Amino acid sequence: MSQITIENLGVQYRSFEALRQISCVVHSGRLTGMIGPNGAGKSTLLKAMLGLIPARGKPVFYGDQPLHCQLHKVAYVPQRSQIDWTYPATVWDVVMMGRVKKTGWFRRFSASSRHRAYDGLVRVGMEKLCDRPIGQLSGGQQQRVFLARSLAQEAEIFCFDEPFVGVDQKTEAILFQIFRELANQGHIVLVVNHDLGESITHFDDLILLNKEIVAADVRENVLNESNLNRAYGGKVSFFSGSSLQAA
Ligand SMILES: Nc1ncnc2c1ncn2[C@@H]1O[C@H](COP(=O)(O)OP(=O)(O)OP(=O)(O)O)[C@@H](O)[C@H]1O
Ligand SMILES: [Mg+2]
Repeated sequence: MSQITIENLGVQYRSFEALRQISCVVHSGRLTGMIGPNGAGKSTLLKAMLGLIPARGKPVFYGDQPLHCQLHKVAYVPQRSQIDWTYPATVWDVVMMGRVKKTGWFRRFSASSRHRAYDGLVRVGMEKLCDRPIGQLSGGQQQRVFLARSLAQEAEIFCFDEPFVGVDQKTEAILFQIFRELANQGHIVLVVNHDLGESITHFDDLILLNKEIVAADVRENVLNESNLNRAYGGKVSFFSGSSLQAA
């Protein structure tokens, strides 16, 4: 079982310190949620982990190698607001992009690549919309297409930034089911999610963040009043067992 190890990571945007002294481990075979208020640095941490923005501290490791040398093993779906939805690509184009690293830009896609892409679309129930421009899909459909792309990629590490925003319950259930399957297959599955409602109980482990790590552990040890107060300040409610708890 491999793990991602983050040690003493910091991120500075010009004079603004977005993250400081982040140390935590993300385990394979577990469904890990990253939670924290708006502006806590959740998206920043994902990007810094993957080497997409500069960070201070030790390199992030996956197994015994730096993660930034193993990006071909990573499927990353950014937050919706960071994707250009006017880009003229169809559902099929987007999913096939997941095969580019395997095939190379200028080579024809093999039959097995096309099968992988189609299988991904079937798993998320989107195969009938292959020819639709992505800009014409609903939020939930778009997320499912991006999930299909990451499945087509045959990655080991799956990182999703707020995949549940603007999606309906059916799509949320499909996404969680596939995340669970990926975790059960022994992959790393890291999902940014700012909803503290019932859906939080899907996660095995949680990383609670507000510029620094407030808690990173199994879910039961993270979701308590004192941690949530430290992260969110003031009042928040969170889902514990069968009911919402006021923190
Ligand atoms: N490119 C940037 N330049 C300067 N500051 C930035 C940049 N990107 C993010 N920030 C700031 O860094 C902080 C963390 O941002 P980030 O997007 O990582 O938060 P987040 O936890 O993902 O928030 P949200 O829940 O709203 O998605 C915020 O205060 C944000 O304004
Ligand atoms: Mg974000």
